[in-house]
Amino acid sequence: MALHRLLGMEVGVPEPGVLDAFYDEIGFVGREGAWGSEELPDQIRISEAPYRQLKELRVGCEGESDLAETAQRLDALGVAYQSGEGRLQVEDPLNGWRFVVEPADAHDLAPKPLRDLNLPGRRTRINRRAEATIEASPRPPRRLGHVVVGTQDVSKTFALCQALGFRVSDTVAGIAFFMRCSRDHHNLLVTPGPVPYLNHYALEYDDTDAVLRAASLYARNHEGVQVDGPGRHPIGGNLFWYLKDPSGTFFEHFADMDVIEDDDAWEVQEDWDPATTWSVFGSGHQSELFFNPEDMQEVIEGWSRENER
Ligand SMILES: [Fe+2]
Repeated sequence: MALHRLLGMEVGVPEPGVLDAFYDEIGFVGREGAWGSEELPDQIRISEAPYRQLKELRVGCEGESDLAETAQRLDALGVAYQSGEGRLQVEDPLNGWRFVVEPADAHDLAPKPLRDLNLPGRRTRINRRAEATIEASPRPPRRLGHVVVGTQDVSKTFALCQALGFRVSDTVAGIAFFMRCSRDHHNLLVTPGPVPYLNHYALEYDDTDAVLRAASLYARNHEGVQVDGPGRHPIGGNLFWYLKDPSGTFFEHFADMDVIEDDDAWEVQEDWDPATTWSVFGSGHQSELFFNPEDMQEVIEGWSRENER
């Protein structure tokens, strides 16, 4: 496995300060412009930009030899890159964002003790109140898990991601590509869009209770942030709840995503039907808002201004 970790992303927004306050509020730790979990700091970087956008995606590979192999694949595809200082960098010529590949240590999050649940025939919490009801505060997000982007050319973007070493896990009728750079079912999803844009990013939580508590608390405290959820995606298996961050980007709380360790043991399904694969409970269909966020026009205009010839 060449790529094995999503290291982080950089977002550009007109008002970076509002995102600093947001990440602090939801339980990330960090400093101005750089946030993450206690265990994985510096996963989300924020910079100032004329409209909200994805600036960079950083992925970790096993070693220097992976960089050389990636460079060969990029040469074959005819995509320019910079390499040096132990990393390889590609400015995506179509979408404008930057991919950075660099060697990184293997890492998985330290497990927390499972909550004792009373299930039919498996009663494990006896004479005690449920932990989820007596925890003093919501559990914080554990890490950045995936990023979803829109692009005018899904096939070209998919080809570049494959050259970078992303592996495909599932596809929706040839228009959406779920890809991984780790054991997660997906770390990057490429979908169609009117211009390149950041659709959402997802933060992993400990379990169902942690997702529901954190998301409902944020939704209660901030009007108009509900996007979709709670639900569970058939593609990837993750429990989800999408809300909107103060910059206008959707953020997903998720837990319990499918894990793929053996590429040969996983069967890629290429004909998922978008009409029936949103969620096994909750809303049966993706909301209209999901691929048409309220600020889409602003993003389109911002992109067009910067890319006018
Ligand atoms: Fe997601």
